Amino acid sequence: MKFFVDTADINEIKDLASTGLLDGVTTNPSLIAKSGREFLPLIKEICDVVSGPVSAEVASTDYETMRKEAEVLRKIADHVAVKVPLTQDGLRVCKELSDDGTMVNVTLCFSAGQAILAAKAGASFISPFVGRLDDLCQSGLELISDILRVYDNYPEFDTEVLVASIRSPMHIIEAAKMGADVITSPPKVIKQLYNHPLTDSGLAAFVDDWAKTGQSIL
Ligand code: E4P
Repeated sequence: MKFFVDTADINEIKDLASTGLLDGVTTNPSLIAKSGREFLPLIKEICDVVSGPVSAEVASTDYETMRKEAEVLRKIADHVAVKVPLTQDGLRVCKELSDDGTMVNVTLCFSAGQAILAAKAGASFISPFVGRLDDLCQSGLELISDILRVYDNYPEFDTEVLVASIRSPMHIIEAAKMGADVITSPPKVIKQLYNHPLTDSGLAAFVDDWAKTGQSIL
């Protein structure tokens, strides 16, 4: 399972990249706004830190402008994945970019039908938003399971299921149990995966007992 971080905070990205466990980054216009940074130089800086796919989203919604924005974004680096919305125009842009060898991440997916269209348009990644569905009392994880099942029937679909809008470590664990290809998670949730109270108490006991021996490894 690949781990992407869902943030535009360069310090958080650097921190997670230093673990060696980070496979990519996703951003969106809301995260860029929150960062307070200039979009294009920020994406370039992220691409210099992370060698895996870095999703940069178009800002417009009509075909012509999205196509022009995509040209700017894909020139930033070879590992930019241009992010487009799951609309007719967005998937038209997706098909053209994919045919041309550019990675595309199709965002704002809320149904298996939409995921089929994205795969047919050659998307590298489909981003179903689990948390936002859960917020509406619909099961986000059930959607992941449906998409994985559908994609499994068609070996010609190369699209990776990128589980997005993650709110808790359980989303990551359940998605992994289903065999989802990628998760993109806020840094906080990735860090929660490290935690267990028995790890903390066990480590405290080992540190205490080691001190009693009066020894040193170094
Ligand atoms: C995915 O690429 C999106 O940026 C993200 O996961 C959305 O998450 P949210 O629902 O927490 O805003």
